[in-house]
Amino acid sequence: MIETITQLARLRAAVAAWKREGLRVGFVPTMGNLHAGHHSLIALARSRADRVVASVFVNPTQFGPGEDYSRYPRTPEADAAGLQAAGCDVLWLPDLTTMYPFGPAAAARIHVPGLSQVLEGAHRPGHFDGVCTVVARLFQQVQPDVAAFGRKDYQQLLVVRRLVADLAFPIELLAGEILREDDGLAMSSRNQYLSPDERATAPELHRVLLRMRTMTLEGAPRAQVEAEAQATLHAAGFVPDYAVLRTPELQEPADGQPGPRVALIAARLGKTRLIDNLEFALAD
Ligand code: PAF
Repeated sequence: MIETITQLARLRAAVAAWKREGLRVGFVPTMGNLHAGHHSLIALARSRADRVVASVFVNPTQFGPGEDYSRYPRTPEADAAGLQAAGCDVLWLPDLTTMYPFGPAAAARIHVPGLSQVLEGAHRPGHFDGVCTVVARLFQQVQPDVAAFGRKDYQQLLVVRRLVADLAFPIELLAGEILREDDGLAMSSRNQYLSPDERATAPELHRVLLRMRTMTLEGAPRAQVEAEAQATLHAAGFVPDYAVLRTPELQEPADGQPGPRVALIAARLGKTRLIDNLEFALAD
């Protein structure tokens, strides 16, 4: 039976008891409204740990002004039931004061330069400062041995990897694969904002990523791949923030140079902002 914990002292006692027994603790941080993608992260964490904690906290410091903080879907009962079915042991459900004792505006913040400032960071200034600030707090609270993050938030994964390496958190990071609906749309809590018409258009995002990969493998220069992706997204009714081809560390790859690549898109469809990516390799 999953235990829902709202007090930090109780969380610490539960984790300390596991550690006294020599058990490894896995952790999956979330903002709730959980879907199969989150549940797969629980399974991933469990594959490397004896006990798993998942947190649900809609973190205000990672939302910009005018973003969807207040309307972000909050479904704690359904989340607890889904987590239990997925094999999670503890749902950590902190309130705002537990997370930010001096209030979000006065919170000590963590900034990872460089990686935090491009792509998502350029379009959502301060977003990754908020993510790092809350992830560091969650790591301090849960003290996991292992933590799982999804590859759908590709840049977040890179930023968190840097955070863990730079601050020497003794935590093994696991990366979960992107889970997609049958039509290719990456699973996301934000998909439910889409109207029926927008939902029918949304899988085009994945098709554009596949086309970016095909063009790159056929030798098209990066500028052409990116320009065609932008044009296709516009024609389908999206307003793209970016559609780019990058190296795994988000550098601009030299045309034709073999190696791993990631195509990344962020685009608005009506009032909903969707992100997705596709990792592949350009062979010799
Ligand atoms: O990926 C998310 O859901 C959030 O950014 C995270 C990691 C839970 C931090 O609030």
